[in-house]
Amino acid sequence: MKTQVAIIGAGPAGLLLGHLLRAEGVDCVILERQSRAYIEGRIRAGVLETITTDLLHRLGIDAGLNAHGMMEEGFNLADSGRMIRIPITELTGQHVVVYGQTEVTRDLIDAAPERGLEIVFEAADVALHDIDGPPYVTYEKDGVQHQVYADFIAGCDGFHGPSRQAIPHNAIQEHQIIYPWGWLGILAEAPRSFHELIYSRHDRGFALLSTRSPTVQRIYVQCDPHDAIEAWPDHRIWQEMQARFAFPGWTLSEGPIFQKGIVGMRSYVCDPMQYGRLFIAGDAAHIVPPTGAKGLNLAVADVLVLSRALDAWYKKKDRSGLDCYSANVLPRIWKCERFSWFMTTMLHQNPADSSFERHMRLAELDTVVGSCAAATALAEIYVGLPLD
Ligand code: FAD
Ligand code: DHB
Repeated sequence: MKTQVAIIGAGPAGLLLGHLLRAEGVDCVILERQSRAYIEGRIRAGVLETITTDLLHRLGIDAGLNAHGMMEEGFNLADSGRMIRIPITELTGQHVVVYGQTEVTRDLIDAAPERGLEIVFEAADVALHDIDGPPYVTYEKDGVQHQVYADFIAGCDGFHGPSRQAIPHNAIQEHQIIYPWGWLGILAEAPRSFHELIYSRHDRGFALLSTRSPTVQRIYVQCDPHDAIEAWPDHRIWQEMQARFAFPGWTLSEGPIFQKGIVGMRSYVCDPMQYGRLFIAGDAAHIVPPTGAKGLNLAVADVLVLSRALDAWYKKKDRSGLDCYSANVLPRIWKCERFSWFMTTMLHQNPADSSFERHMRLAELDTVVGSCAAATALAEIYVGLPLD
């Protein structure tokens, strides 16, 4: 098979890049290791910045978003019984929308056939070749070996995918922190307990109250990343949640838990995010800890910039956007890395912290609470930094 851009990975980055390229008439194919059912069952992020919702509107893939997206004009930081509201709309004039990554992904997959976007699911042993020269990708499907010859490869295959690993080690610098905690995330059939998100710092560990719909709630608690899921029976989850969300005059609604998972946390940046004809985007190039919900939105920002660069190459033979792709996206990525690191370290309990470090975390929270300028700076990044 021959195409212009071979995209590896059908997560938000790969799917959106595919739709953006098809909208400009660029040929592409997406190679995805998992089945469609597996991808549509994967529960992940939930908070969308305006660049993400604007893009879904622009592509016209927004029926689900319009019907079920929940506009949030503020979020809350809780600490030992006090609740501090960050009024993001009052402070920035913008808002965020809660609409699950699972739903975004499903909408993008549903819209693919009518827009001529080919997705090959269950593509095994995807491998990149000649990323310096005219490149090609090989994979196996139903026992048959396939080759895709392309002008460019877009590596949108997440942190563990083969794309970043295809770049020679001496051509990149990697920057990383691995955090000593993880999140246990659940979906529960329960009414919304509070009308806005709550990020709670607590001596027992961090907890986050989010939502998916008026009847389904998304909740996270800080845990040991090596915990087995069996160590968290439902009654223990609710017990921890009730303790970490104990505010006067308010109760957390409980209900049947129908999905559970534990994720570890890291901060990671690969610099540069390109080599020869290969460009990497989203989690393939950088990871943020999820506190602050930047991961998905960063993936969207990358592919917006990459699609413009590819479009300029195909329409005007202008290579400047491709040459400068990493330089154009990395400064914004680093600001979001800093924000996610800051939110994470400020709000999580680290048993290894000295009493001095614990005081620093509390002072950080007090600074946000006590200063409109500090709260505005936080809100500006939460709603999403401008792309240009
Ligand atoms: P991904 O969504 O990871 O997509 C990569 C795709 O590539 C996948 O479909 C994968 O199957 C495919 N792939 C991998 N290897 C291969 C291969 N060899 N061949 C072909 N295809 C391959 N962010 C938040 O903001 N809030 C959250 O609560 C949150 N929770 C998360 C929970 C989990 C378990 C994970 C892993 C991430 C979470 N994130 C969260 C981060 C957010 O979901 C990611 O930043 C976002 O998914 C990035 O999109 P992406 O398209 O770059 O990568
Ligand atoms: C959600 C995830 C996040 O990481 C976050 O900061 C807020 C909400 C969510 O899944 O709803």
